[in-house]
Amino acid sequence: MVTRPAVIRKFQQSLLTWFDSHARDLPWRQNSDPYRIWVSEVMLQQTRVTAVLDYYARFLTLFPSVTVLAQAKEPEVLAAWSGLGYYRRARMMHQAAKVVVHEHHGIFPRTAEELRKLPGIGEYTSSAIASIAFGEPVAVVDGNVERVLLRIFPEAESPVPHAKWFRDRAANLLDTQRPGDFNQAMMELGATVCLPQRPLCLHCPVQRFCKTRGEHQAPPPKKMRNRQIAYALLRRDRPGATQVLLYQRPLSASLMPGMWELPEVEMREDDHDRVELTLRHAITVTNYRVHVLRFTEHEATLRWPKQKTPQQWTESSELGALPLTGLTRKVLRRLQIIANEVK
Ligand code: ADE
Repeated sequence: MVTRPAVIRKFQQSLLTWFDSHARDLPWRQNSDPYRIWVSEVMLQQTRVTAVLDYYARFLTLFPSVTVLAQAKEPEVLAAWSGLGYYRRARMMHQAAKVVVHEHHGIFPRTAEELRKLPGIGEYTSSAIASIAFGEPVAVVDGNVERVLLRIFPEAESPVPHAKWFRDRAANLLDTQRPGDFNQAMMELGATVCLPQRPLCLHCPVQRFCKTRGEHQAPPPKKMRNRQIAYALLRRDRPGATQVLLYQRPLSASLMPGMWELPEVEMREDDHDRVELTLRHAITVTNYRVHVLRFTEHEATLRWPKQKTPQQWTESSELGALPLTGLTRKVLRRLQIIANEVK
């Protein structure tokens, strides 16, 4: 890609014309409310658009404004986030909502620099909110944008350039008249056309600026580990109601502190006929093979005589309001103890 201003202008025009006619109709694109844009951008970090849609709608029904979010209790926020993973995002958002309400009269700061002072808002989120909601000419770089940049600038240092290389290239390409649309167009291009494995170059609006047709230097793929894990299912079935026994993870745990889950158990040789469900669950670099074992209350008392962690029999109708771990939610859905309204 040539970086003469006239060429960059043509690149911007081609990309924005495509975006104007091809942008997906996504709920956070309906207005420029910084709160709604913030929620969408936080959810979209590490999570695909299709997985975010239902959570986004439900989250905004429960917490329609930054003021309502600031007043919520943390477990309610985590419950609405349950299944999206990376729960620190939800905790930090809740913290930041309190700062916006108590220190900024409920009004979002308008620049990326000011936004970055809020808890959990870093380079990516601040640039996304500032450009999309307030039109500040700052470039956004996410994983999709990085891939697009690697392909249109194949002279990048190998194997993967530093953050500054991506920032400088993105800033150089940015359309400063329409920064929010340009940033979203770059992300959209990466998400729908400039795909990691089989890029759809024939549909690419900026194909003529790209010499690589999708080949680029990439870091080696992550090595996945395999692990087995087992959970105990203790249930009380009453007419019209089911209860399950859940444990709360310690508040001091580094992963998912305070969230509720099925009790983890060590699986023995003779537990095989207890298996109620087996499923796979991938978290970052680990593929879990998860067995859910059925126990009666009496069997459980013999096997785990005294438990110190908080435990609670929970009605299936109350599970939606509890911050469950994503895996526990998945298991309870498969077993139809939780209704399947969100995939
Ligand atoms: N990925 C994350 N945020 C996005 C946005 N606003 N548009 C398209 N893809 C995105």
